[in-house]
Amino acid sequence: MSTEQLLAPILNFLHCETPDEWIVEAKNPENLSIILIDHLICELKAAQTAMWLIRKYAVDKASGKLLLDWLAPHEKYIYKKEGNLESLSKSLKFSKSIVPKSDSLIGQDLVDKMVLLINEELHHFYQVLEIMNDRNIAYKNITAGRYAKGMMTNVRTHEPATLIDKLICGAYIEARSCERFAKLAPFLDDELNKFYVSLLRSEARHYQDYLSLARQVAGGDISERIEFFGKVEAELISSPDTDFKFHSGRPIKS
Ligand SMILES: [Fe+2]
Ligand SMILES: [Fe+2]
Repeated sequence: MSTEQLLAPILNFLHCETPDEWIVEAKNPENLSIILIDHLICELKAAQTAMWLIRKYAVDKASGKLLLDWLAPHEKYIYKKEGNLESLSKSLKFSKSIVPKSDSLIGQDLVDKMVLLINEELHHFYQVLEIMNDRNIAYKNITAGRYAKGMMTNVRTHEPATLIDKLICGAYIEARSCERFAKLAPFLDDELNKFYVSLLRSEARHYQDYLSLARQVAGGDISERIEFFGKVEAELISSPDTDFKFHSGRPIKS
């Protein structure tokens, strides 16, 4: 499938494209370290979100513990600056079997899709870190942008609405990442261009996996809710934002 074919449904799903002003900031070599550091954190957060969903909705405590142990070295790297590429490379693949709770309606599908997603996000995490190391870009703590929080504050607080909304938010975050990688890639050097284009295939599937899980949980029409979050997301992307990040809005100087 060509890049255009991969992107067509994503552009159709999103309510707006990334503003050109964001691309101007993102391609500025001075901002490369912030883009890569924030991208690294996004990959970990994507893995954490998926893991949280499995642990909350699909598995028992013992399986939850196995999953947490898988993620722990990556979290230690980000939050405690412990470990390195070599130690992380040992905990990339997860091969233990996770059994869903018998009373979980979408348990098996949620586990299968999210374990694959976590595998891929952690692989991306490792790839970003390799690129940072090669370029002597040191990891440092940065504050979170407004984007994910801006979506999550709209999640309803009763089940199954909470789960449905979180899955829709997941779909938008994945779809936006995909759109940004594609739009930014041509303005970056060869290595980063190739890397960002290589990410499109998995991120395009991630957004569809989240959407199909949301539809499965709802068991009915969720187009109104998808439309609602589409508007919230587009507002966060197109309104002025002083804090430049991977998912930030239209950049303005503070
Ligand atoms: Fe990713
Ligand atoms: Fe993803």
